[in-house]
Amino acid sequence: MNIGVILAAGLGKRMNSKRHKVVHEVCGKPMIAHIVSEMQAVGFDRLFVVVGRLESQVRDVLGDEVSYIRQEEQLGTGHAVQQVIPYLPDNGITVVLYGDCPLVRREEIARLMETAEKEKATSLMTAVLPDPYSYGRIIRSATGAVTQIVEEKDATLDQRLITEVNTGIYAFWTPSLRAALPRLTSDNAQGELLLTDCVKYINQDGGRVVPVIVKDADDIANVNDRVQLSVVEQKMRRRIILRHMQAGVTVIDPATTYIEADVLIGRDTVIWPGSYLKGLTSVGEDCVIGPNARLENAIIKDEAIVDSSVIVDSTVDSLSHVGPFAYIRPGSFIGQDVKIGDFVEIKNSTIGNGTKVSHLAYVGDSDVGASVNIGCGVVTVNYDGYQKHRTVIEDGSFVGSNVNLIAPVTVGKEGYVATGSTITDDVADGSFAIARERQTTKPAYAAKLRERLRQKDGHRG
Ligand code: UD1
Ligand code: CA
Repeated sequence: MNIGVILAAGLGKRMNSKRHKVVHEVCGKPMIAHIVSEMQAVGFDRLFVVVGRLESQVRDVLGDEVSYIRQEEQLGTGHAVQQVIPYLPDNGITVVLYGDCPLVRREEIARLMETAEKEKATSLMTAVLPDPYSYGRIIRSATGAVTQIVEEKDATLDQRLITEVNTGIYAFWTPSLRAALPRLTSDNAQGELLLTDCVKYINQDGGRVVPVIVKDADDIANVNDRVQLSVVEQKMRRRIILRHMQAGVTVIDPATTYIEADVLIGRDTVIWPGSYLKGLTSVGEDCVIGPNARLENAIIKDEAIVDSSVIVDSTVDSLSHVGPFAYIRPGSFIGQDVKIGDFVEIKNSTIGNGTKVSHLAYVGDSDVGASVNIGCGVVTVNYDGYQKHRTVIEDGSFVGSNVNLIAPVTVGKEGYVATGSTITDDVADGSFAIARERQTTKPAYAAKLRERLRQKDGHRG
């Protein structure tokens, strides 16, 4: 039986935050959620998270995806794993890692476990870093096995020169871990029970600790402060963009493109610079996104175009064209082959197939049918200061420019609303509605008016 343990009881003081370190986001996803995703992909019989202060913040992120074990007092990483002793099986492998290494990869965890299984021993992931400062250093025997991990604060000057470091990712041979844990002492510079000391006891018991050097040292970067958080963010961002490019997405300028961890993008879609794809956004194939698009939990179907626009919690169906400069707010569904043009705001509305809202309009709390034309400057007046009301515009209708539709109101099928109207009453199917002042024209009056105005001006002067 193999189990996984993620440590997340320490507060992360160096973050200087009200939030627990491991819930800080990297590419839009809490650090610890990245790690849990990777661990779940590897597959464990049980996955534990050791929590302490601010436990509720960790639970809010992970829910019941994992089992929680409490460490009342934070007496060190070794003490944290001691809390798991009652749940440790008699055999198999126990993978332990820390909640602050969000770049860890499933392939590398799996490789570490394979070594442990093959060697019937504990394996430890190490990394060779040009600047090993602050990491625990790896002490090896003549045969290459790890005999000890020495923390920065306990290391001698010679030991500090060692560039091979502890990544904090362990595949313990569970019986060895069970035997080592109760023997930890706080006899070290930090006065804590250090998980790293288990290595020493495993060796004393005649066990072996086999090092596995991580393929890419970037994968093991840990976050202790906000500077490291930004470093990890950059690395994760590059990794995500690379993955999309390899899967057939064209990213014109990776340096100015932000794609969060769980975003999906179809093949042959092109992302132009300045675009930000967030949350559970999913983009189909052959789309053109950007420049300067912000998509947040947006579903964009095949062959759609989103140019310099913001789309939040909404769907845009295939072949539709949004922007430039449109704002589609939560709860909207834009049908197929729709045009949403410049300076148009859509909120909590459905727009039917083939409809055009080409410029300068507000459509809120509305159900707009198929093949409707909404003219320039149309406003659905949905709010009376107390309540929101719906506007219904049925298939094939024409709403002229600068029309106000005072909701609740319906324009029936194939209706026609004259430009400049303020519509307060329903318009039946096929009807024409006009609601505006009649024009008065006074022939040849323009010159007289000018003369009058000129005289007024003279009096004043
Ligand atoms: C640790 C390792 C170090 C390694 C580095 C790799 C130890 C003693 N040192 O140092 O060898 O090079 O990680 O990133 O393990 N935690 C608890 N309870 C506690 C203390 C800590 O759950 O009582 C958790 C923290 O929430 C954190 C993790 O353990 O997620 C690691 O603690 P941290 O203080 O960040 O260890 P490092 O100093 O980075
Ligand atoms: Ca750390």
